[in-house]
Amino acid sequence: MNPNNNGIPNRHIQFLLNNEIVCVNDVEPTKSVLSYLREDCFLTGTKEGCAEGDCGACTVVIAALEKKGLSLKSVNACIQFVPTLNGKAVFTVEFLRKQNNGKLHPVQQAMVDKHGSQCGFCTPGFIMSLWCLYNEHQTAEILPERTEVRSALTGNLCRCTGYKPILQAADSMFEAAAPVTFDNDGLRDRLLELKTDTNSHYSYNNEQLYSPNTTAELLQLRADHPEATLLAGGTDVGLWVNKQFRELNTLIYLGNIDALKSITEDEAFINIAAGVTLTNAYKALANHYPEMNQMWERFASRPIRNVGTLGGNIANGSPIGDSMPALIALSARVVLSNVNGQRELLLEDLYLDYMKKDMQANEVVTLIKIPLPVTDQQLRCYKLSKRYDSDISAVFTGMALTLNRDTITDVKIAFGGMAATPKRATNTEQFLFGKVWDEPTAKQAMEILKLDFTPMTDMRATDKNRMQSAMNLLYRFYLETRPINPLTTDMTNVFGEV
Ligand code: FAD
Ligand code: FES
Ligand code: FES
Repeated sequence: MNPNNNGIPNRHIQFLLNNEIVCVNDVEPTKSVLSYLREDCFLTGTKEGCAEGDCGACTVVIAALEKKGLSLKSVNACIQFVPTLNGKAVFTVEFLRKQNNGKLHPVQQAMVDKHGSQCGFCTPGFIMSLWCLYNEHQTAEILPERTEVRSALTGNLCRCTGYKPILQAADSMFEAAAPVTFDNDGLRDRLLELKTDTNSHYSYNNEQLYSPNTTAELLQLRADHPEATLLAGGTDVGLWVNKQFRELNTLIYLGNIDALKSITEDEAFINIAAGVTLTNAYKALANHYPEMNQMWERFASRPIRNVGTLGGNIANGSPIGDSMPALIALSARVVLSNVNGQRELLLEDLYLDYMKKDMQANEVVTLIKIPLPVTDQQLRCYKLSKRYDSDISAVFTGMALTLNRDTITDVKIAFGGMAATPKRATNTEQFLFGKVWDEPTAKQAMEILKLDFTPMTDMRATDKNRMQSAMNLLYRFYLETRPINPLTTDMTNVFGEV
C-alpha cells in the first residue's frame, strides 16, 4: 500500500470504452482522455485541434449514473483526465457503426447526404455532438428546435464546410427510415456492475489522484494535502496541463461527491453546491432569473458547461469569469468549508486581488447561496466578447435595481474585465441610491463609473474600449429598466432615442 494515500487502497481505473470494460493502471493521472484514446487505444477518429476545449474536434460522449438516472453528455476529451472516467462510460465516433451493425449511423448518413463534411477534420466532433442530441430525442415526440440544435453545436468549429449543411444534417438525421435506438437500460446495468471502486486513490509515476465520495472525506484529504490541486470539471485545470505544462503532482477530484451536486431552495436562497455543473446551475438560476438565460447560453459552449462547475468558476476567480458579476449584483454568498467547520461570506469579499482569494489552503468552496428575487427587482446581465459563442468576455456586467415608482431604493452593479478582480461599482451605486431613475441621472452615473474602474488593455479590448463599453452598458440598463408612465409616454418612441 502506498504510504501517502491516507490508507485508501490504490485502485486501477475501470470504465466502459465503447461498451467494453477497460482497466487502466499505467497512465499518468493528468493524461488526457484524448491522448489515451489516440495513443493507447488507436481510436484515431477523435481528433486534436486546439487541445484547449475550443474547437470540438475531440468531442466524445460520456455517460454516468447520477441521482436522477443515466446522463449522456458531450465533452471535450482534450481537457478531461483519464482517472475521471472511473465508473463511467465513454463513447467515441468508432462506436456509431458498431451500434448500427456496421452500417453508418443515421447521424453519419445525414452528414453524408447533406454534404456536411469537406476536409473532415471537424466531422467526428460534430457527429458526436449530434449523436448526443439524437439520443436525447430518440424517445421524445418533440424534435429539437433550431435553437436547441445550434446550442448543441456551440462547441464545434468548422473552417471549411460552413454550418448550413451541418444544420440540415441535424434536421434530417431524425427522418432516417431505420432509426437506431440507444440501449439506456443495458448501459445503466453495466455501469451499476462497474460502480465498485469508490473513495479511491490512483497513482502513477509520482502523480496521484484522490477521488473522495463524501464531503467529510474531501475535507480530510484537503487538510492532509493542502498542496494538492482540486479538480472539478477540469475546464480550467486541463489547460494548465496542456498549455502551461504545469506538473500537478497531487489532485483531489470532486466529481464523485453526490453532496456537491445538489440544488435546493429555502425561503430565502437558491442553494447550489459547488460541484453542480454550469448547465444545471444556470438552469436552476434561470427558473427565478430568466434574465440570466442569455448569459447562460453564452458561457463557453455546451461541452464546457456540461462538465465545468459553478464552484470551479467562482473558486478560480478569474477577473473575466462570467458567473461572478451577476451573482455579486444579486448579493450571493459563498460557503467555505474545512475539517473544523465552515464560514460564509459575501461572494464579492472572496476576491482580494488578481487571482488572490480569501480562501485558506485547507478550505474548499462547498456552497453558493443566491438570494431569491425581491419584488420589483430588475436584473440584467450583459456580456461583450468578440465571438457570440464560446468566447471569454472582454467586459461582463450584472446590474440589479429596485425602484419604488421612479426612485431607486436598491442598486448593485458589478463588472468583470474592468479590474484585477470581479468588482462592484460602489461610487456609482452610492450616487444612484435614492435618485429618480431618469435620463440625467443615468448620464451622470455613466461619468461616475470612471471613478470606479481603471481598466487595462489586452488582446480582448483596449482600456478606452472597456471604459466606454461599460458606460454604454449602464445606459442600456437605464433604457431597459427606466420607469415608463403609460399615460404620458409614446411607446413607439421609447427606443427611438437610443
Ligand atoms: P476546474 O478547472 O476543475 O477548477 C478551476 C479552479 O478552481 C482550480 O483552481 C481548482 O483547484 C479550483 N476549484 C474547483 N472547485 C473548487 C472548489 N469546490 N473549492 C475550491 N477550489 C475549487 N469561463 C467563464 O467564466 N466564461 C466563459 O465563457 C468561459 N469559456 C471557456 C471556454 C473554454 C473553451 C474553456 C476551456 C474554459 C472557459 N471558461 C469560461 C473557464 C471555465 O470553463 C470556468 O471557469 C469553469 O467554471 C471552471 O469550472 P471547472 O469545474 O471546470 O473547474
Ligand atoms: Fe479542440 Fe479539444 S482539441 S476542443
Ligand atoms: Fe473541414 Fe469542417 S470539414 S473543418
